[in-house]
Amino acid sequence: MPIPSAGELLVRVKASSLNARDLLIANGRYSTAVPPGRIPLSDGAGIVEAVGDGVSRFRVGDRVVGTFHPAWLYGPFREWGELYGVQRDGWLTDYIAVDEQSVVAVPEHLSYEEAATLPCAALTAWSAVSGVGAGDSLLVQGSGGVSVFALQFARVAGVSVLATTSSAEKARRLRALGACDIVDYVSTPEWGARVRALTGGRGTDLVVEIGGAGTISQSIAAVADGGLISLVGNLASGGGMDLTQFFRRGATLRTITVGSRSDFEQMNRVISRHRLRPVVDRVFPFNETPDAFSHFEKGSRFGKVVISH
Ligand SMILES: NC(=O)c1ccc[n+]([C@@H]2O[C@H](COP(=O)([O-])OP(=O)(O)OC[C@H]3O[C@@H](n4cnc5c(N)ncnc54)[C@H](OP(=O)(O)O)[C@@H]3O)[C@@H](O)[C@H]2O)c1
Repeated sequence: MPIPSAGELLVRVKASSLNARDLLIANGRYSTAVPPGRIPLSDGAGIVEAVGDGVSRFRVGDRVVGTFHPAWLYGPFREWGELYGVQRDGWLTDYIAVDEQSVVAVPEHLSYEEAATLPCAALTAWSAVSGVGAGDSLLVQGSGGVSVFALQFARVAGVSVLATTSSAEKARRLRALGACDIVDYVSTPEWGARVRALTGGRGTDLVVEIGGAGTISQSIAAVADGGLISLVGNLASGGGMDLTQFFRRGATLRTITVGSRSDFEQMNRVISRHRLRPVVDRVFPFNETPDAFSHFEKGSRFGKVVISH
């Protein structure tokens, strides 16, 4: 049982959630070495059970959710710092002591299981769709955590959303969330041209790029001249970017590094105002965590995989 130091909260963790990086860490394929015995998971939500000296942001009984970058409070991204599950113990635990600055309040209408999906995937999606608004168009790739949140945020902002996916059932679910057009990236490997055709030859104003090296050439084909690509992930292996093709598009490529606490608070205001609910694929009890990881590894899921503590 950790004892909260001055400025810290003791949080009884109620739920946590999985992201692509957690699988890489568990499989020993993460870009940074992780010491043996490190407690996994960057994302968790819980209730404040005790507070250290001098705490002023939260009280015992408050519902809180962690931030992915515990020390990035506001302003532009400057450094990675220490991350949960890598340089410091993460949220797959009953109790955690955290700096009161490194958590935010859970939106009132969300359960702990829903709130636990927000720190990484939701905030990344929020950052990735910033800069587009009503009347613009967006392309999201697949139906993983980040892409589904990006679709939800874009829809409440009046952005029209196209999506790629790999099955008819997932296409149906993406449509139900408000996507206007879906392209199957397996049966249509040249999906960039198809997206262009679906947008009257213009392309989409924004592409949220999660495939990386394996999909970027199609994203450049899909994005509008002068458009924006938010580079989020590198899930798909492939040949990378043709710089000449990219240059001729006149587009901007920006990398996304989740977001700051202040971004998180702004996102939560929008989630609360629109009563948005994260799409939870499945909730596993804490003692079935290995099954949660196995399920996450399978391609069948849609949205977030959560662990209830
Ligand atoms: N930069 C950041 O701040 C940041 C933050 C979070 C995540 N990430 C990265 O972003 C990526 C996505 O994260 P996530 O949590 O959303 O992962 P996820 O939940 O594991 O998403 C997996 C989904 O990606 C889709 N996909 C896989 N290969 C694809 C391809 N070739 N073309 C199109 N879609 C493909 C699939 O969708 P269908 O099943 O519909 O086919 C799959 O279900 C990962 O690489 C992750 O490491 C980066």
